[in-house]
Amino acid sequence: MANLKQGEFVGSLDCGTTSVRFIVFDKYANIIAQHQAEFPQYYPEPGWHEHDADEIQQVSDLCIAEASRKLEKAGWGKESIKIIGITNQRETAVAWSRKTGKPLCRAIVWTDSRTKNHVAFFEKKLREVGLNGKKGEAGVNELRELTGIQLSTYFSGIKLKWMIDHDPVVREAHEADDLLFGTVESWVIYNLVGGVKTGLHISEVTNASRTLLLNLHTLNWEPSLLEFFDLRKSILPKLVSSSEVYGKISSGPLQGVKIGGLIGDQQGALVGNKCLRQGEAKCTYGTGAFLLFCTGADIVKSAHGLLGTVAYQPGPGTKPVYALEGSIAVAGSAIKWLRDSMMMISTAEDVNTLAKQVPTTGGVYFVTAFSGLLAPYWDPGAAGLLIGLSSYTNPCHIARATLEANAFQTRAIVESMKLDSKVDLKHLKVDGGMTNGDMAMEVLADIGGFSVIRPEMRESTALGSALLAGSAIGLFGWDITKPETMVEVNTKGSTEFNPSLAEAAREKKWQGWQRAVERAKKWEE
Ligand code: G3P
Repeated sequence: MANLKQGEFVGSLDCGTTSVRFIVFDKYANIIAQHQAEFPQYYPEPGWHEHDADEIQQVSDLCIAEASRKLEKAGWGKESIKIIGITNQRETAVAWSRKTGKPLCRAIVWTDSRTKNHVAFFEKKLREVGLNGKKGEAGVNELRELTGIQLSTYFSGIKLKWMIDHDPVVREAHEADDLLFGTVESWVIYNLVGGVKTGLHISEVTNASRTLLLNLHTLNWEPSLLEFFDLRKSILPKLVSSSEVYGKISSGPLQGVKIGGLIGDQQGALVGNKCLRQGEAKCTYGTGAFLLFCTGADIVKSAHGLLGTVAYQPGPGTKPVYALEGSIAVAGSAIKWLRDSMMMISTAEDVNTLAKQVPTTGGVYFVTAFSGLLAPYWDPGAAGLLIGLSSYTNPCHIARATLEANAFQTRAIVESMKLDSKVDLKHLKVDGGMTNGDMAMEVLADIGGFSVIRPEMRESTALGSALLAGSAIGLFGWDITKPETMVEVNTKGSTEFNPSLAEAAREKKWQGWQRAVERAKKWEE
């Protein structure tokens, strides 16, 4: 194309749970071009959730190609993209062949709870056989001490173990040393830089901190855990930081462009919201909801059901920044369920319109435990529960109860964070699709009892990986170790939602939620 302008931009490939997007940002986080596409979700059995890793790659390639085309249509040469970052759904496990570069089976998605029995088996092993000579409660604590996390169906290492134990193709590949394991960033970068030809097999530390195999203190794969789960080290990727040049795109419209930022999507949103200092927190409401609280150089050990995790590692060999995390499995996906399965609404936004029509839920509580409950309850046997129904109940009450479910779970995490960190959260920065609805945000402020701050630019996840990529080459003077170098980024206005519910009413609702959760727990043995 003739007469295309040349600028300086940074791209971000955001590989989420239900869709992929590629966004091109300028120095001020203005979006210059973008493309988003959904990909198929597979639910072969209750509690199972799978992705086809090839389809994730195809959609990623498509988004890069379409966004590059749109960039040119807007008058900019695609050479204006100086570097890209990648951010991704985190605990989804991908297994592929070293020889062919092809997936060996469907990827097991983070929401999938098929590994319940594996979790129970390893819990028993932890108590009876022990880890590093520690047994019983001391064994459980040792795992937590090493990884910051606990045995749960949520984490990718247990999903990998399930694949090896249940899928003969994966088992044979493990035995023959043909198996490569990775989370989504590993898989996507492997393919972008040339697949089997280049054989780049890496994983970034925030993603690795969600496997159950990473030592959170040393940022190395932990030998005692490989032994405990009986896994070969050669199947694991080489660990890399969140900001460095890993390689170049090998084909397509952005051939030759460097890849310089990798980060799990929730940590990406923390960086994108510039919560880079101790005490700063954000919550992203996507498929699930994830509240991350930056704890700086300290690993804060939670005594109240939260996870210790890597927030980001600024570069190779540098000291990481840590975070405390509260993960909620079902947030936006409950609204999707109202739309697609219950057919109560025709668009996701309608949940706000319906909820607005009633001042309360009429006594209805909705515990959205579709695949058990994550933080702070950690109950894989909890079941989804609608309680308080009467002939008075109508879809407006259920819509409102869905928004409240989200708010109650956020509050439960904030309460745990207060206890763990001794910091009282005065306001919470939010982003993600669900935050587009004002009603959802008003309900969150009312139930939470804190102010909710919603920035105008809400592509924080993608922005986080763009900032890390730019920082890797010093683009725009960005330096992830110096938050002040990113001062001009994303400074546009924000909306604040403040609680308007009386304290007594808030507490009454909170008590009701806690009773509902108790009833939902341990439903499935
Ligand atoms: O831990 C799961 C998380 O990384 C998924 O995020 O935005 O795809 O729902 P999202």
